[in-house]
Amino acid sequence: MDEFLKEIWAGLTANPKYLPSKYFYDKTGDELFVQIMDCPEYYLTRCELEIFTKQGGDMAIAIQDRLKTFDVVELGAGDCTKSKHLLKALLAQDTDFTYYPIDISANVISNLEEQLPQELQGLKVQGLNGEYFAMLESLGTLSARNKVVLFLGSNIGNIPIDDTTGFLKQLGSYLAPGDLLLTGFDLKKDPAVILAAYNDKGGITRRFNLNLLQRINDTFGADLNLAQFEHLPVYDEQTGACKSYLVSNKDQQSHIGNAGSVTFGAGERILMEISQKYTAAQTDAFAIATGFAPTAYFTDSKGWFLDALWTVV
Ligand code: AVJ
Repeated sequence: MDEFLKEIWAGLTANPKYLPSKYFYDKTGDELFVQIMDCPEYYLTRCELEIFTKQGGDMAIAIQDRLKTFDVVELGAGDCTKSKHLLKALLAQDTDFTYYPIDISANVISNLEEQLPQELQGLKVQGLNGEYFAMLESLGTLSARNKVVLFLGSNIGNIPIDDTTGFLKQLGSYLAPGDLLLTGFDLKKDPAVILAAYNDKGGITRRFNLNLLQRINDTFGADLNLAQFEHLPVYDEQTGACKSYLVSNKDQQSHIGNAGSVTFGAGERILMEISQKYTAAQTDAFAIATGFAPTAYFTDSKGWFLDALWTVV
């Protein structure tokens, strides 16, 4: 059984049910995510873009103050709209570096390799299509320089908070003392603002979640009935976890290709995604617990989003 089928089968037969959100990003999923970033309710991208447009130069200085030579690695590069501002500022400095975007979407990587060198004259780009750690492993043989790792967009929020320490320690195991990590954290704020970001009026986020069911149907010949699931985002102010569920609206059974069949009870939920929100103090605590030193904060004018620069100790 291939990895994708194995993971979705494990999730759909678990109690409670879940699906791994990393599988959202097929071609349609990529397109829907671009539309989400344009939704008036989805403030995250605009806040972080403000940080990069206004403070990209400061970020480049903070990096160059600490590292003479480096390569830039981006985890989950997407369309690279934000990091472009930093890459531009770094190119303007007299440093030779290669940009290694890592992304689970093959589509994203081929687009970046094609377009980025045209947009940013002189930029060296080498894309890596796959999962973060597998790609960081192969990067070990490609780059001998110090690393500046970008992990933007609150992608870290997809990791359950109890697994975040383990994740950051593993990330650190691919890095060397002095390497830098710039992570985008979405900060806790008015719960209504957060919930609206995952429940846009235009229904794009709903389609984004349902698209994974469609992808499973298309890939494995499954017969999940998209009309029989409702999109339900829930935000818990205490824990800072925003969870997106698909809720079965009736008792039903679906066949997942050759893997077997799955039953859903009326009201039964599939956990599709966690989008964790943090306090700035929490991010410092994560750094210190996992072998990093908090180095600089970059925030937007509303104080809604934080790009935290950490140094590997
Ligand atoms: C790309 C993981 C940061 O969790 O906010 C947007 C994905 N999901 N709307 C997020 C997403 C629903 C997004 N990240």
